[in-house]
Amino acid sequence: MRVLAVHSEHPESALIAAAAEAIRNGELVAFPTETVYGLGADALNADAVARIFAAKGRPAWNPVIVHVASVTDAQALVSRWPDDATVLAQALWPGPITFVLPRASVVPDIVTAGLGNVGIRIPSHPVALALLRAAGRPIAAPSANRFTEVSPTSAAHVLRSLEGRVAMLVDGGSCDVGIESTVVDLTGDVPMVLRPGMISRDRIEALLGKEVGYRAADEAAITAEGRAQPSPGTSVRHYAPRAAVWLFETEDLENMQHSIASLQSNATKAPLKARALLIHVRDEAFTTPVERERMPATPDLYGHELYRALHAADAEGIGLLLIELPPRHDVWAAIHDRLTRASR
Ligand code: TXA
Ligand code: MG
Repeated sequence: MRVLAVHSEHPESALIAAAAEAIRNGELVAFPTETVYGLGADALNADAVARIFAAKGRPAWNPVIVHVASVTDAQALVSRWPDDATVLAQALWPGPITFVLPRASVVPDIVTAGLGNVGIRIPSHPVALALLRAAGRPIAAPSANRFTEVSPTSAAHVLRSLEGRVAMLVDGGSCDVGIESTVVDLTGDVPMVLRPGMISRDRIEALLGKEVGYRAADEAAITAEGRAQPSPGTSVRHYAPRAAVWLFETEDLENMQHSIASLQSNATKAPLKARALLIHVRDEAFTTPVERERMPATPDLYGHELYRALHAADAEGIGLLLIELPPRHDVWAAIHDRLTRASR
């Protein structure tokens, strides 16, 4: 894989031109966005998009988000542009939110997994925007990891997951947001959040001045029928590290420690390497021999750190991750969602 290290805010135009040419030639290019690294291909070239599915080992029922550089470019991909999209794009684009809209026929079937709708977003990362402008076409890009793995928030994560499977990697440093975009379906009367992200449902409701729903996909039912899922990011085994993950409430520390103690005393093989990711629990409260790592107490900073911490645990051979749950509040909804999936 050819790695191009670029400046994260002012990427070198010669390097961006090389990556853009690879996109136009139908090759795969991994690149940074403000959320996570994407694995990009020319969205209007079905063969190129097919390479994304092959490299990720991603099932064909899973549609891909299309990235564009402007609202005009987004409108060229849809058959209808609702007023809600205008309001949200004005306030939130470029940024970490994807709109699901009725597709235009220029969008290949493979991009939407045969669905009548297409997911679109304008990313705010300067490297992603520069690449989109230089390529001069929409770029289809799921997260740049093998299917079901934790999304990459650095070039090193991409290399570990996709080395040998992708032509080029644009290294633009680590991702600010750190978890995937909010996905909101704007095709019906009531907007529906399909995947929570750092742009919260409350924020969308406030901007639109109306109620917004939440619809978690029932993966089991949908894949059993062999149909596309409304939102593949809601796939049950998604975002999971190799380590076993136990989630616990701050006040349940005692019970959790009893469970670890009995687990470790029953361990017949080498003792399980365990690590706790903590927010409020104090170090003195720990009686079991477990590594401890502090996590930030605000959702934005926590989101920025979460996947880095999961990748680090895997890289360091941690067998058991004990994760203290953040407060149950809407601003933490996206973090709760990813933690729950990581624990399955
Ligand atoms: O932040 C992000 O969204 C990152 C960066 C690279 O942009 N991309 C990402 O893509 O997370 P991926 O493929 O890992 O997740 C795809 C998500 C799904 O959860 C699904 O909700 C939504 O995109 N999606 C894409 N096309 C859709 C469609 N036609 N209908 C419904 N949901 C769609
Ligand atoms: Mg993904």
